Amino acid sequence: MSNKMWGGRFATGPDAIMEEINASIGFDQRLFRQDIAGSIAHATMLAETGILTQEDRDSIVSGLTEVLAEIEGGRFTFSRALEDIHMNVESRLREKIGDAAGRLHTARSRNDQVATDFKLYVRDTIDTLVVQVHTLQLALVTKAEEEAETIMPGFTHLQSAQPVTFGHHLLAYVEMLGRDAGRLLDARKRLNESPLGSAALAGTPYPIDRQMTAEKLGFDRPTANSLDAVSDRDFIIETLAAASICAMHLSRFAEEMVIWSSAQFGFVRLSDKFTTGSSIMPQKRNPDAAELVRAKIGRILGALTSLIVVMKGLPLAYSKDMQEDKEVAFDALDSLSLSLAAMTGMVGDMAPNRERMRISAAAGFSTATDIADWLVRELNIPFRDAHHITGTIVALAEQKGCGLEGLTIEDFKFVDQRIDSRIHKVLTVEASVAARKSYGGTAPANVLFQAARWKTELTGV
Ligand code: ARG
Repeated sequence: MSNKMWGGRFATGPDAIMEEINASIGFDQRLFRQDIAGSIAHATMLAETGILTQEDRDSIVSGLTEVLAEIEGGRFTFSRALEDIHMNVESRLREKIGDAAGRLHTARSRNDQVATDFKLYVRDTIDTLVVQVHTLQLALVTKAEEEAETIMPGFTHLQSAQPVTFGHHLLAYVEMLGRDAGRLLDARKRLNESPLGSAALAGTPYPIDRQMTAEKLGFDRPTANSLDAVSDRDFIIETLAAASICAMHLSRFAEEMVIWSSAQFGFVRLSDKFTTGSSIMPQKRNPDAAELVRAKIGRILGALTSLIVVMKGLPLAYSKDMQEDKEVAFDALDSLSLSLAAMTGMVGDMAPNRERMRISAAAGFSTATDIADWLVRELNIPFRDAHHITGTIVALAEQKGCGLEGLTIEDFKFVDQRIDSRIHKVLTVEASVAARKSYGGTAPANVLFQAARWKTELTGV
């Protein structure tokens, strides 16, 4: 039997393989809410512009409301022969209300319908993701306040560089996530134009009111070019780009958690809730959640790459290639959402080992820069010379097998006569971080200031 939605000119139905490759209902059924909302707005507009009778509109809307309840209640049978969510819903509507259902598709095509549904879905998802990003930021800010004075090693090249505060390190991620939320919201702004009423590609001869459907669906305005409207997938590509950057940040943080929670570092303990054991090694507590968050960027960036490649070289307007946009996008957005949730849980539960961090912060001659700065400040030695003198001091400590704090005043004078005992007060990691009060620096006071600023921004109080 040929397809009852479009099969008028077909003698037979599709091959089973054709049906399998063509159908999208397996994954686009999750657009049912957006599809029904779009249809209700469209039918209402058709009635208000006199294209549809009020009576038909009412029976369409009540029928669609029932279909919605059926799907939500798990009482709806999706059919692969009906290809996608749009035709599954419309066909069920016809079963319920009869001929009036056939009038719903006036002045509309699946091409503008799917673009509308998908935009509405991506918009809703952005809103959820932004809330999730803010929740993670708040968890980090709360931890940063608690750890404003906790000293850890700061690294460059993953070699000890200078001591920093743990709170400062956590707030670095709050900044990144702030930009991530900004990028998602920026994508949302550009996305928010309604394709509905662009019809198949050229617009429609019916006197429709696209402004009205745009407003009903919460869009800022209708799209201005029907060809563009049905063939644009920038909105999901841009969202996936923002999602990829966010996932990249989460991956970096996850990697640090994996390193920090190792026995060799021992900076933090992840909770039992976010670790797993080994089936052979009884001592193990593996940071699986962090590892998976570290890995999720693979599929998220994969989706972005995939869609750019699908869209590349496509002639205007709609081609079925574009149906490939949904599966990877759903998977990527789901993955980011799950990663954000897992990260929020891990951060809240993470227990730092302050003692271990402090000891590690002092290792590797981490306050050497403070010595050089002292020579500049107190003895007016040019920085390049001070750097050289400090290098000699470090070499001496290395030779003696002690840290910089273990050097005596005689040791310092041996390297440079001009040094006096005041040098000792800059050698501690506490002095080092407290001194870094420049705007955006690691000093505990700065951490508290920035944490308070973020708290106000995130909670509005
Ligand atoms: N399932 C299709 C998609 O996701 C809907 C649009 C189909 N349009 C068409 N002319 N075949 O892209």
